[in-house]
Amino acid sequence: MPERDVQITACADGPLLVRGAVQVVGEDGQTIDNPRRTVALCRCGSSAIKPWCDGTHKLIRGVSDPASSTSR
Ligand code: FES
Repeated sequence: MPERDVQITACADGPLLVRGAVQVVGEDGQTIDNPRRTVALCRCGSSAIKPWCDGTHKLIRGVSDPASSTSR
């Protein structure tokens, strides 16, 4: 993958996996430190370490299923 490319994978009932050199910024405009090139962003809203996924989504159901996005 070239240096500037970013790939985002929507995991069924889980986080958004972001691969690549990205900068994550909070709603206050401050950069959130992240030393990793692959991060998992919570989209279920239940993580205790937002914006990162902490695996709590595994305890709940129905975050989303990218394959069924046309069913709504
Ligand atoms: S998506 Fe994993 S804790 Fe929210």
